[in-house]
Amino acid sequence: MKTVHVELGERSYPIHIGAGLLGNTELYKSHIKGAKVVIITNETVAPLYLEEVKTALAPVAEVHPFVLQDGESHKRLSTVESIAGNMLSVPCDRKTTVVALGGGVVGDIAGFTAACYQRGIRFIQIPTTLLAQVDSSVGGKTGVNHSLGKNMIGAFHQPVCVIADSETLTSLPEREFCAGLAEVIKYGLIRDREFFEWLEGNIESLLQRDPNAVAYAVEQSCQNKATVVAEDETEAGIRAILNFGHTFGHAIETGLNYKDWLHGEAVAAGMVMAGELSVRLGLLSNQENQRIKPLLIKSKLPTSPPGNIDAKEFKSIMAVDKKAEAGKVKFIVLNQLGDAQVTSDYVDEILDSTLASFLG
Ligand code: NAD
Ligand code: GLY
Repeated sequence: MKTVHVELGERSYPIHIGAGLLGNTELYKSHIKGAKVVIITNETVAPLYLEEVKTALAPVAEVHPFVLQDGESHKRLSTVESIAGNMLSVPCDRKTTVVALGGGVVGDIAGFTAACYQRGIRFIQIPTTLLAQVDSSVGGKTGVNHSLGKNMIGAFHQPVCVIADSETLTSLPEREFCAGLAEVIKYGLIRDREFFEWLEGNIESLLQRDPNAVAYAVEQSCQNKATVVAEDETEAGIRAILNFGHTFGHAIETGLNYKDWLHGEAVAAGMVMAGELSVRLGLLSNQENQRIKPLLIKSKLPTSPPGNIDAKEFKSIMAVDKKAEAGKVKFIVLNQLGDAQVTSDYVDEILDSTLASFLG
């Protein structure tokens, strides 16, 4: 087992990474203070892993599982209200620990419930998708969607521990695994050139889910995220680089009404677009930019936006991006592979020509 630490003073926590961890009672013991634990999972993950987690927790606390329906459409306030209702009828007190067992959807809902329930209780993340292991379970962003916008209701609430069991990834559909790879590649691009080069050389092993390669990729990704989060927990500055490719990617997701493409797929195409913008701004060399696409293609990820969103629509969606300030959208751009910055220092013509090169 490898452990990466997120250093946030009294809110610091470990991320344990390795095979066969979710059945290990010892890992949970020091993080559970009260008599009760609530496991929040969904109908897809429950048949695969719930029994094992329940058995591991049984010697430590009274266990109450809540199984949600699967899907992003359930990431909404009414789900939080219904979980809270169940917790009140148990009844769960302020010492109860919430355990999130599932992908990013379950983690965001469970984390937000823990942030709100009786003004905040402890929670543990057990991420079971690659995306959740390398991104959403780390850093304390929790929340739900509103009909007027994704992730628009939420809170920063750090978990007390993350348990990333690499064996859970063996049951993940290939498309979901590849979508998670987009976020893995992101870390190499924004702040870890050595890791990017490791990915170039080891992508085949990762796609075959070689346990050592997967564990290394998760560890490096978590280490990169942990360092950024420790520096800027609430995204006052540098944490924004974690959104590399996401401004273009969110425009793709919104333009497609969150259907057809997975988040990681939209981020992959978005990273290619952000790379192109970086070249046009005179920051990234063409030669370095040309190394991005081949890695994404090998990872079975898209490298251009879908044909049915035009440049005008793209720009109008991006104008309401969370990173827009005083009407100017901020972009994360690359200076070189492994070095990113946030910028609003561009003329509109450069953005227009970048969009035109993809959208015609
Ligand atoms: P997801 O949670 O919907 O999981 C994808 C699918 O895989 C679901 O059907 C799920 O039930 C299934 N699944 C989960 N684990 C499995 C396993 N081990 N075997 C088989 N199937 C499994 O999607 P995701 O990609 O994990 O997360 C996306 C969500 O994460 C979005 O809501 C996004 O907004 C959020 N997110 C949050 C952050 C953050 O910092 N909080 C960061 C990135 C993304
Ligand atoms: N996923 C981006 C962040 O956690 O800041």
